[in-house]
Amino acid sequence: MQGCARGQLDMEGALTARDRVGIQDFVLLDAHTSETAFLDNLKKRFSENLIYTYIGTLLVSVNPYKELDIYSKKQMDIYMGVNFFELPPHIFALADNAYHTMLAEANNHFILISGESGAGKTEASKKILQYYAVSCPSTTLLDNVRDRMLLSNPVLEAFGNSKTLKNDNSSRFGKYMDIQFDIQGDAVGGHILGYLLEKSRVVHQNHGERNFHIFYQLVKGGEEDLLHQLGLESNCQHYSYLVQGECANVASINDKNDWKTVRNALSVIDFDERDIQHLLGVIASVLHLGNVQFEPDSKGYAMLNNSAELLWVSTLLGVNVQVLQEGLTSRKIEAKTDEVLSPFTVDHAIYARDALTKAIYGRTFTWLVNKINDSMENKDSSRKTVIGLLDIYGFEVFYVNSFEQFCINYCNEKLQQLFIQLTLKSEQEEYEAENIGWEPVQFFNNKIICDLVEEKHRGIISVLDEECLRPGEATDLTFLERLEEKLDSHPHFVTHKLADKKTRKTLERGNFRLLHYAGEVTYCVVGFLSKNNDLLYRNIKDVMRQSKNSIVRECFASKESDGRRRPETVASQFKSSLLGLTDILMSKEPWYVRCLKSNESQQPGQFDDVLVRHQVKYLGLMEHLRVRRAGFAYRCHYDVFLQRYKPLCPATWPYWRGVAAEGVEVLVQHLGYLPDEYKMGRTKIFIRHPRTLFATEDAFEVCKHDLASRIQAQYKAYWQKGQFRRQKEAATKIETCWRGVQARKAKGRRQWAVKVIKKFIKGYMARGEAKTTDNSEYLAFVRQNYLNRLKDNLPKMVLDKTSWLTPPPVLTETSEILRQLHMRLMVRKYIRGITAQQKAQLQLKGITSVIFKGKKDSYPQSVSQPYVDTRISEQDINMKVLQMIRHEGIKYSIPIVKYDRNGFKARPRQLILTQTAAYVLDDAKIKQRVLYTTLKGVSVSTLSDGLIIFHIPSEDDKQKGDLIMQCDHLFEALTKLSVVANKQSAINVVQGSVKFQMKVGKEGIVEFSSGQESMVYKDKNGHLMVVSTRTRAR
Ligand SMILES: Nc1ncnc2c1ncn2[C@@H]1O[C@H](COP(=O)(O)OP(=O)(O)O)[C@@H](O)[C@H]1O
Ligand SMILES: [Mg+2]
Repeated sequence: MQGCARGQLDMEGALTARDRVGIQDFVLLDAHTSETAFLDNLKKRFSENLIYTYIGTLLVSVNPYKELDIYSKKQMDIYMGVNFFELPPHIFALADNAYHTMLAEANNHFILISGESGAGKTEASKKILQYYAVSCPSTTLLDNVRDRMLLSNPVLEAFGNSKTLKNDNSSRFGKYMDIQFDIQGDAVGGHILGYLLEKSRVVHQNHGERNFHIFYQLVKGGEEDLLHQLGLESNCQHYSYLVQGECANVASINDKNDWKTVRNALSVIDFDERDIQHLLGVIASVLHLGNVQFEPDSKGYAMLNNSAELLWVSTLLGVNVQVLQEGLTSRKIEAKTDEVLSPFTVDHAIYARDALTKAIYGRTFTWLVNKINDSMENKDSSRKTVIGLLDIYGFEVFYVNSFEQFCINYCNEKLQQLFIQLTLKSEQEEYEAENIGWEPVQFFNNKIICDLVEEKHRGIISVLDEECLRPGEATDLTFLERLEEKLDSHPHFVTHKLADKKTRKTLERGNFRLLHYAGEVTYCVVGFLSKNNDLLYRNIKDVMRQSKNSIVRECFASKESDGRRRPETVASQFKSSLLGLTDILMSKEPWYVRCLKSNESQQPGQFDDVLVRHQVKYLGLMEHLRVRRAGFAYRCHYDVFLQRYKPLCPATWPYWRGVAAEGVEVLVQHLGYLPDEYKMGRTKIFIRHPRTLFATEDAFEVCKHDLASRIQAQYKAYWQKGQFRRQKEAATKIETCWRGVQARKAKGRRQWAVKVIKKFIKGYMARGEAKTTDNSEYLAFVRQNYLNRLKDNLPKMVLDKTSWLTPPPVLTETSEILRQLHMRLMVRKYIRGITAQQKAQLQLKGITSVIFKGKKDSYPQSVSQPYVDTRISEQDINMKVLQMIRHEGIKYSIPIVKYDRNGFKARPRQLILTQTAAYVLDDAKIKQRVLYTTLKGVSVSTLSDGLIIFHIPSEDDKQKGDLIMQCDHLFEALTKLSVVANKQSAINVVQGSVKFQMKVGKEGIVEFSSGQESMVYKDKNGHLMVVSTRTRAR
């Protein structure tokens, strides 16, 4: 019961799901004696595809007949090294537990896989092997061994399995395989023991069954060349050994593919080409032998009717065809010193032929096992531990059961016996070890049936052997009679004769019936003697010993053929081999896998209640459970139990400081266990009813949540505090760093400022000097500063001559250049901006300036007064006059005041300038016409008056003399005149007084002065006085 205590922790945890998928360990089934409850649980799980259930450490497996995705590498990884009960039941869990227990305890183990034919034993054993191959540590060297171990399977299955009515891949031999592990747990070698191959199948198959797979694989899958070489046709129907069951093709079997697998496997497991060739030669020769037919000759003796097949046999086996023929049709009889040939009848010959075939095949199978063993053998002698895998043919019942079924069922009987012994033993030992009183369990012990079969002198095998060996006419029927004599009152043995009336109806005369542990089986005695004898005549053995086929030669070279003693019968051999097996197993620690068939028709998803119930019954699962529960449903190491349930009691939570056992006592007292409900062993507590455990477990579930939230809360608080502290520390650190950075920055800035200011001051002090390193920056700054300021404060108008910024001394020159440039720019802009009219005006003003600027007082005020084209419009000039002078082109006209020459009387007149002359008009009269050519000069004063004097030459009387006028727009009128008449140079600005001509020979004087009031008058001295107001100082 290894691992049980260790792993219980989580088993119960998973029990919360027990309602849905049933419980995963029958030990915890409340109604543990109820078969119905047992079956219900199995069925519930089966319908959820949970095919595995434990009874303690025993694994119950129900064949699902469909691929389940539970054998992948991923699954293997999950189960690797995990405690047995921590995960759902699985074949991997069992394999892993066995492996780790083996490593921990350094002892040998075996896994007994039992169940009836088709229940899944072989599959289970393969899964276990695969698990070890994948999960054990490996090296390249070991990989080799591992491959061979894995690949030995398909080869052995090809030669030893066949389709039966129960199973399409039924093992027809027993197989015990040791997997050897070194101290590190590496799988380093393997060894196989084969048990009693059902070789009669080579020559005979019941309807619906096949011969061994290898024949079909070779015939269907063999390459053309190969078949040709072996003299075979690619058609099973050609071979009488392959067609008796009439089912050479089976839907679930792909012989062609299997052939490839087997052929490849043979190469991997160290078979050289010659071995393979000879092995296939044997297979082919069996097929040819099956086709060898006999006919009676004239004396009724057997005679070959087809020598071609025999020729192939002789070729393939490398024996002389004549000798072979002789061996098949006659036997040698020793008569004292002579040897005589005794010919066979046809039946006898067929019997001899079949005997030969069976011998060849059977021995070749043994050779094959040995060969595989050689290839898996680990040659170093270091210490190893083993795990044995026992996959043997399961209990089987057919319509007709013969010697083979007898042996197979006997074998199962023995294994059941072993199982009972070991289970009881271990359970009793545990109770003893724990010092708890053993309460005997009632269960069916099949020892009585084992004895019935194997007891010396009285047992069926003894009787059979006696019949086989005794002189005289022994037949299958005499054997039956003997049995009836010896076993007439045995409760498990019935024959037609011994049976009561009712049973007799179900029994034929040639049958006997055994009441096996697994049910009744009726055996037909026909063939028992010959099969038990397994007789092969000496002369044919001799032929075989000379075979050139090395396998055949080797197989027949044994001592047995030399000795005169009769060889041991098949049943005795089998019996002793089983005894040997029992010894092997008894010395090891057992693990059990009990396989159940879910239905007879190999259908997925069908759970046949009756069938399963029957198996549960005969496999003794209920008994096993009862034994496991003898008194107590559950046991657990104190420390494990305490560790799990201590939160349920204040005294044990969170720590129990004392001895674990005492802690458990306190704990269960607190939980209110009644004295009858539990017992305290030496290291374990035993609990009688699952309900007690479940109640505890449920309480734990509730408490667990409580605990979990408390722990969670504590942890959260702890975590949060830590988090807060860390954040705070981080914040402080960042702050410090940041402050440092800021301070360093500020310091840098201050230092920089000091430098800049110093430099500035130095520069300022040295600003007047030539450029040096000290002042260059300052000067640059001053320059830049001035230029920047200048840029924003440039004068906007040409006339603005004052707002130009005063430059610093270094920029005096530059400033002047800039100023001029700016001025020019503004002028240019101005010029570009003015109209033609403005331009003309300015030109006129320019002329005015040339003439008068600085000369006449009133000039400055006139500058801003714009000139007009003319001051009298044409409508205001007399029409008559206009007509007279128009042709000269009127350029300008203006009202004036004319002063008479004599009295200086003021008269309003119009002055008109044409292209050629100036006219003085008094309405319709032209008072005076002055041709420009005759105009000598024009005088004006330096003062602000508007007086103009035209000096005209007066050679004759007609001439009126000089013209004295006053005009409000003096500068405009004179400028126009100077332009029209080109008289610029003729205009004189005179100071004080000017002379003028009144008439020929008479001169007058005009005196200019300035006073309070402007006026013009004739002075007493006859001078014309012109007074003008003083204009503002220039
Ligand atoms: N674990 C399993 N998963 C799926 N199918 C299985 C399983 N075990 C057995 N089978 C099916 O049942 C058939 C018979 O199983 P096998 O192991 O050969 O029976 P046994 O060796 O007990 O006679 C297999 O060929 C396979 O189809
Ligand atoms: Mg099998």
